[in-house]
This record gives sequence, structure tokens and C-alpha cells, in this order.
Amino acid sequence: SLTPRPEDRFTFGLWTVGWPARDPFGDATRPALDPVETLHRLAELGAYGVNYHDDDLLAVESDRDLAVANFTKGLADTGLKCPSATTNLFTHPVFKDGAFTSNDRDVRRYALRKVKRNLDLAAQLGADTYICWGGREGAESDAAKDVRAALDRYKEAFDILGQYVLDQGYDLRFAIEPKPNEPRGDILLPTIGHALAFIQELEHPELVGLNPEVGHEQMAGLNFVHGISQALWQGKLFHIDLNGQHGPKYDQDLIFGHGDVKSAFFLVDLLENGGYEGVRHFDYKPLRTEDVGDVWDSAAANMRTYLILKEKSKQYRADPEVQEALAASRVPDLTIPTLGRGETLASLDGDDFDIDAVAARGFHFTRLNQLALEHLLGVR
Ligand code: GCO
Ligand code: MN
Ligand code: MN
Ligand code: MN
Repeated sequence: SLTPRPEDRFTFGLWTVGWPARDPFGDATRPALDPVETLHRLAELGAYGVNYHDDDLLAVESDRDLAVANFTKGLADTGLKCPSATTNLFTHPVFKDGAFTSNDRDVRRYALRKVKRNLDLAAQLGADTYICWGGREGAESDAAKDVRAALDRYKEAFDILGQYVLDQGYDLRFAIEPKPNEPRGDILLPTIGHALAFIQELEHPELVGLNPEVGHEQMAGLNFVHGISQALWQGKLFHIDLNGQHGPKYDQDLIFGHGDVKSAFFLVDLLENGGYEGVRHFDYKPLRTEDVGDVWDSAAANMRTYLILKEKSKQYRADPEVQEALAASRVPDLTIPTLGRGETLASLDGDDFDIDAVAARGFHFTRLNQLALEHLLGVR
């Protein structure tokens, strides 16, 4: 069915539907949303949960205790879950040169304190994932940042926060969200690959994984499905930010599927069949042109698109012609180890190999790709 239900485990950031659509060139086009109203609207639309930045909770109520109480009650009233949380380490001017990696040590100390406070709240709200998007960690000039020292400080922050979570006995893991640029000219840990390599240097690598975002890898011209495949392969896909993007340009945060729809199709196919067990989270921005009613249509569109692509993936896999084409392209053969049981490198010496005949064999990927496209376009 194309009707979203809580079992589908769709979640949204409060800041997505709540984005008032202020951009670097223009003022807000919509009013701030009350997080409690957001909970009710998303629950009606069939979502499973929400996540939040510490500061999102203060959108219409500046008293933190009261804001937290209202939000907690809203969760209870709607039955929505809060599976993840994050810290805003980018809006306030104090973070203009970063948070964990600011050249200013006072800022670094404040950033850790801000995260600690929200980790306590995240644990209290039952979150199991803590997202870390280091949007201001970076530079515009290579003269401005000692990147090796910055990585030392980045590691120091994760080591300290990881130890804190262990000491408190919180059931929380961290998920780093890579992004190549924007708002900084160059952001540290710019891609899935950089972040995976960084995690191996930490005191507690098991506590830290990834929250890759569709558009961010595509801004770097990278293949998101390949990136997610590797994150899964390394056991590091802790969370995912689904949205849309048209190639390398500013971060569009479009509705899921409203960018590269073919990549979105293969992504859903991978998430549904590749062992991912986390929530299907949307981190998008309703277009700045839209009014308050359109915002809820856009939220629904994310979930509906995901469910459509999930249906398409099932039909694609069940199609006997696709099965045959996959076999003809030898896609399943890649799962067979290259050496047989008991074989060694020396065993290959006896292979009867006609190099010209093998080189002449085609892989027939055209047919496979066309079949996928036709399923996607609804003509099969
Ligand atoms: C972006 C990022 C952010 C982060 C979010 C969590 O679009 O640049 O996705 O939206 O995900 O702020 O900190
Ligand atoms: Mn983004
Ligand atoms: Mn994101
Ligand atoms: Mn975003």
C-alpha cells in the first residue's frame, strides 16, 4: 500500500517541515512552526517519529524546561518516537569557525558542553542515535586551518563524548553526517569515505557510524548507492538522511525522489534488501515557494515516493525477465569466491583460459538497465 504507516518507520527532522525558508538572498517566506503542531501533523500523515536539534525545540517557546515538557507531552499524545537527536553547532555566530574544531579553544569547550546537555535529553527521550553534522567544521582558506590539528580535536571530541555515553550507561551511538561544502567552503570529513576512515582512529570506533545524506554525496559528484553499500558492508550505516539533489551545486535538500530518481530507486532497493535496520529518515526542505499547506503535502510526498519505489523494487525483482537478465549479466556470480575451497594462487596455473574468447563476451548491462528504467517508468 502507498499509505504510510508507523511500521514503515518514516521519520522527519523538526527543522525540515519547520524551515521558514530563509536563504542567503531572501527573508523567510513562512512562519515558524510549533514543534507540538508538527508532531500532530506528522502523526496524522502516518510518520513513525521525529528528530530534533536542541535549538529546534525552542522555536516558539524560549524556556527550555517548558519547551521540553511540551515536546515530551506531544510525543506521548501522538505516539510518535524520537529515535535520534542532534546538536545545533552551526547557527550561532560563536560557531563561525566551527565547534569541535574551531581555532578558538573556548568555543570548542562550549560546543562539548552544549552536546553533553542534549545527550542527556536525547537519552531521556529514548533516542538511540546521536547525529553529528559538522557543517561549520572547515575553512575557506588552506592558510586558516591546520587540518591535522583539527582532526586531532575532532577525534578528541568523539573520544570524550563516547566515554561520557559509556559512563552514563546511555544506549546511544553517534552517526557522523558527511558533507563536502556549504556553509563552509570546504568541510572536514567531506564524504562517506573520509568519515569511515576517520572512525577507525577513534578510541571507541564501535560507538560511531554514519548518517549519510543523499544530496551531500551527490554534491561531490559521488554515487550515493555505492557509498551506502560500502557503509553497510562496513557495518556503519547507523542512520540515513533521504532527500533529493540535482548533481554538483548548492545543497538543494529536495523531496526524496525529486532529484535523481533512478538513484533513488536503486537506493530503496538496497535499503529494503541490504540489511539496513534503521529508520527511513527524511532531511529535506519544503521549497521556498510553498505555503504552509504545501509543507504538509511535501512531507507526505517523501513517504509516498519511498513507498512507490519500494513497490517498484519488488516488481523489478519478481519480474522473470529481470531474473533472466541478471543471470545473463552474471550479477549473481559476483558472490562466488574467486578461488574454490582448498585452492591457492598456484591452483590458477592450470586454468584453461582463452583470453580472446573471454574478452569478446558482452555483459548485456544495457538490457538490465533498460528493464529497471521501464519498471520505474511504469510501462512493465
Ligand atoms: C544539511 C544537513 C543538515 C543536517 C542537520 C543535522 O542539509 O546540510 O543535512 O540538515 O542533517 O542539520 O544536524
Ligand atoms: Mn543537505
Ligand atoms: Mn542532513
Ligand atoms: Mn538538511
